[in-house]
Amino acid sequence: MAGAAAISLMPATPVAAAALAALHAAAMPAGEAWSAESIATELGLPGVFGLLEAGGGMVLARVAADQAEILALAVAPGARRAGRGAALLAEAERRAAGRGARQMFLEVAEGNAAARALYARAGYRPLGRRRAYYANGEDALVLGKALAETTFCEATIV
Ligand SMILES: CC(C)(COP(=O)(O)OP(=O)(O)OC[C@H]1O[C@@H](n2cnc3c(N)ncnc32)[C@H](O)[C@@H]1OP(=O)(O)O)[C@@H](O)C(=O)NCCC(=O)NCCS
Repeated sequence: MAGAAAISLMPATPVAAAALAALHAAAMPAGEAWSAESIATELGLPGVFGLLEAGGGMVLARVAADQAEILALAVAPGARRAGRGAALLAEAERRAAGRGARQMFLEVAEGNAAARALYARAGYRPLGRRRAYYANGEDALVLGKALAETTFCEATIV
């Protein structure tokens, strides 16, 4: 780790869609950024929630019954290797578990070494492969992790 940062996480409502989109655009390869409109739409869908990290990170996740999915996880280039990605992921897991999810899934580009290292360290295991999943023809790996049951309540902890 480059240095411990003061991590400050907050829930992201559709009002924060522009901030989330700016972070997503800064972090993702050209052509893969999501617009503020699409992020606002996602955040309005049942089971979808987002978190912002004040130093420059975001996560979007969706819960459906007892399963959850990381839709997007991004940390601005200048804010990386300070624990933000791991903190965003852990809080998304905690909130998903609080909404009843027992498993978290995600897709990651096979060549995305940084994200694969982060997910492996967080306990994610490979479950499958989606061939030519990305626009550049790269395969996606499907990763998953069992979530612990929790009594976490979003109404009382931010
Ligand atoms: C992947 C990403 C979210 C990581 O964010 P981050 O804030 O830098 O991650 P953290 O600082 O919490 O890293 C946690 C651990 O993950 C691993 N890790 C993170 N980045 C790494 C890198 N570039 N190389 C190797 N390991 C890395 C390390 O084990 C790290 O712990 P350490 O710093 O103590 O060694 C960030 O690189 C990013 O936004 N990338 C572009 C978008 C993306 O790929 N999103 C995921 C799509 S599935």
